Amino acid sequence: MAKLTVKDLNVRGKRVLVRVDYNVPMEEKDGQMVINDATRIHETLPTLELLVNQGAKIILMAHLGRPKGQRDPSLSLRPVAAKLADMLGRPVAFVDDCIGDKVEKTAGLLQPGDILLLENVRYYNEEEANDPVFAEKLAKLADIYVNDAFGAAHRAHASTEGVARVIAKRGGQCAAGLLMERELKFLGDELENPAKPFVVILGGAKVSDKIKVIDRLLEKADAILIGGAMTYTFRLALGAKVGKSLVEPDKTDVAKSALDKAKTRNVQFLLPSDNMVATPVKTDKLNKKGKPVIDLTNPRVNTETDIPDAEEGVDIGPATAKTYSDFIQKAKTILWNGPMGIFEDPRFAVGTFAVARAVVDATQKNGAKSIIGGGDSVKALNKSGLGDKVTFMSTGGGASLEFLEGRVLPGVAALADNS
Ligand code: 3PG
Ligand code: MG
Repeated sequence: MAKLTVKDLNVRGKRVLVRVDYNVPMEEKDGQMVINDATRIHETLPTLELLVNQGAKIILMAHLGRPKGQRDPSLSLRPVAAKLADMLGRPVAFVDDCIGDKVEKTAGLLQPGDILLLENVRYYNEEEANDPVFAEKLAKLADIYVNDAFGAAHRAHASTEGVARVIAKRGGQCAAGLLMERELKFLGDELENPAKPFVVILGGAKVSDKIKVIDRLLEKADAILIGGAMTYTFRLALGAKVGKSLVEPDKTDVAKSALDKAKTRNVQFLLPSDNMVATPVKTDKLNKKGKPVIDLTNPRVNTETDIPDAEEGVDIGPATAKTYSDFIQKAKTILWNGPMGIFEDPRFAVGTFAVARAVVDATQKNGAKSIIGGGDSVKALNKSGLGDKVTFMSTGGGASLEFLEGRVLPGVAALADNS
């Protein structure tokens, strides 16, 4: 059912507690934490601008990383307040805690249109434990709750779930933000009855991560195009040799039943007909985890079904890229989740970028609706410079996958229905 949204509220002069997903990639540069990708911040601007224009007193809360109840200074949200102020072109106040007297006092001084960002809610263990006392303390700050953190909606935490329950119980409204609304529309409603042909592109490392999504999409899709390392689990299931490829030998049975279901349901289920392969060689260098760095040497196109013992699959090959692009061109609805290869290495990004190009062409030339299911595929699309040329890119990683599996997300369930 459709959720109550921020557009349905009367927020003038009210304190509105807004959960956002500002879990953005950061990096230390000259002793400062710098934001590498501000997409998640950018995507909340419509909700914030609406609230500002309607005269709400806005209190933002978010998590950053996994500090496990410790005040890890490298996971402070302070740099995010500065970035947000920049992007909004208006001041954003910051307070170095998320509950307690000081926070209540600061929130109490807000004027209509003011914005305050609270410190990382995960500095408290009670957040992830969804502790009811902690949720009460958060709820004390506000009259109304808005959740715009789709990316964290699969977590039943105090700031995503518990606080909404408290506010609803005392008669306060709990609504979806505009980003949340869009995510639910594109990853949910639009895929319920997709315009046909509906082509799904699935990549990434593991079959186990995607098996429930595959199973559900087999009910809707006309074609499923497989790429990434999960290819090799399917290949293994079909009796091929996969060399040193990343593979899940204990998942060949689920791979087989997906292939069977595709047959029964008349869904075209494509595995790559050729692959880029490379020979992994251990070096003397160690990575951050103290493990030897592996060089991928002698890349070449393999057109055989079997991969030789010393080599591993690292990308789809050119013939596959062509076949997949042709399928994508015919689609009216496209869902893409997961890269086709190790796109972080330019030598093995060709397949992923070819798919990205085809998705963009289908969108722009044929009017196809293209929905990118978050995580690495979004990274890949942005890397190829095509990020703004698709219909929708999800800000969720794990949340998108769980939602595509058809699961009810606790952060969504806690919001009021629009009756
Ligand atoms: C994400 O980045 O996927 C979300 O912000 C959730 O973060 P988490 O996986 O640490 O709960
Ligand atoms: Mg995550």
